[in-house]
Amino acid sequence: MMMLEGRTAVVAGGAGSIGGAICTLFAEHGAQVLVADIAGDRVQAVLDEIHAAGGRATGLVADLTTEQAMADLAEQAAALGPTDILVNCLGHYLDSVEPFEQTAEQTWQALYEINLLPVLRACHAFLPGMKAQRYGRIINFSSTEGIRASPSLAVYGAFKGAVDAFTRSLAVEAARDGVIVNSIAADKTRSYQTNFLQVPPEYEHLIPTWTPRGRFADGDDVAKIALFLASDLCDWVVGSTLLADGGTIAAGGWYRTPQRWSTQPLLHQFFEPAEANLSRPRSLQ
Ligand SMILES: NC(=O)c1ccc[n+]([C@@H]2O[C@H](COP(=O)([O-])OP(=O)(O)OC[C@H]3O[C@@H](n4cnc5c(N)ncnc54)[C@H](O)[C@@H]3O)[C@@H](O)[C@H]2O)c1
Repeated sequence: MMMLEGRTAVVAGGAGSIGGAICTLFAEHGAQVLVADIAGDRVQAVLDEIHAAGGRATGLVADLTTEQAMADLAEQAAALGPTDILVNCLGHYLDSVEPFEQTAEQTWQALYEINLLPVLRACHAFLPGMKAQRYGRIINFSSTEGIRASPSLAVYGAFKGAVDAFTRSLAVEAARDGVIVNSIAADKTRSYQTNFLQVPPEYEHLIPTWTPRGRFADGDDVAKIALFLASDLCDWVVGSTLLADGGTIAAGGWYRTPQRWSTQPLLHQFFEPAEANLSRPRSLQ
């Protein structure tokens, strides 16, 4: 079943792990796709994949944190006809993992400019056209870190939480005009910015303990949720944040140990010499 036949979709951050999977899946389902991202080689790779499968897609290589790039995106999209679907998949934690008091205002600004500002700009640019045609689907990307606490990622978490808050309000404003707005809060998805969640082979057996689903996700897992939200099947889910997290928020601190479920999994690094802990990759210390 082709779920997006005749639709035109704009995907900001469309060459990322999740964004790229969304572009190829949307094209597979009949949409014409505009792939926008700063990574030119990966934009080309996504276009090549779509064209090789007989789909329709064009690209825009730009730094989407700038006002000019967003204006270019809107102009290039307009040349394709009315935009039916907007996916704001851009977002990044900018490797700013540190206690809040050590963060710099410059970093807050940079996190704002990549996680929230482009969402506002893109919605501002595309909403009037969608309202005029009385049809639209907008999907914003937040994060589980905007829902639960995100220690050492407090500012990133704050802007992701803001994406959900904005999504709810916009959704309520726009629903009666046929524009359905929702967000997706991802977690534990292999992507460029998470270094594809690689762990050394000797730790791979622990992956099933880290999510209730028992694995990490790939971009495709999240793209399927976006496909539903972008399609006509989604008409009654309005202003929601769909968790694409394999159950991590539901688990809320519960982990499956080899024997049982526990809120106190054995963190053996607390009981071993510091050198043993420090000899591991940082993500496993
Ligand atoms: N992967 C996860 O587990 C996870 C968790 C929570 C939230 N998210 C969110 O999901 C969304 C997709 O991220 P992903 O995980 O696929 O990451 P990703 O790193 O694979 O993709 C992000 C894309 O954004 C592009 N980009 C970065 N800066 C840009 C700029 N200035 N202008 C244009 N493009 C730019 C990158 O080139 C990349 O293609 C993001 O909003 C992210 O915050 C992901």
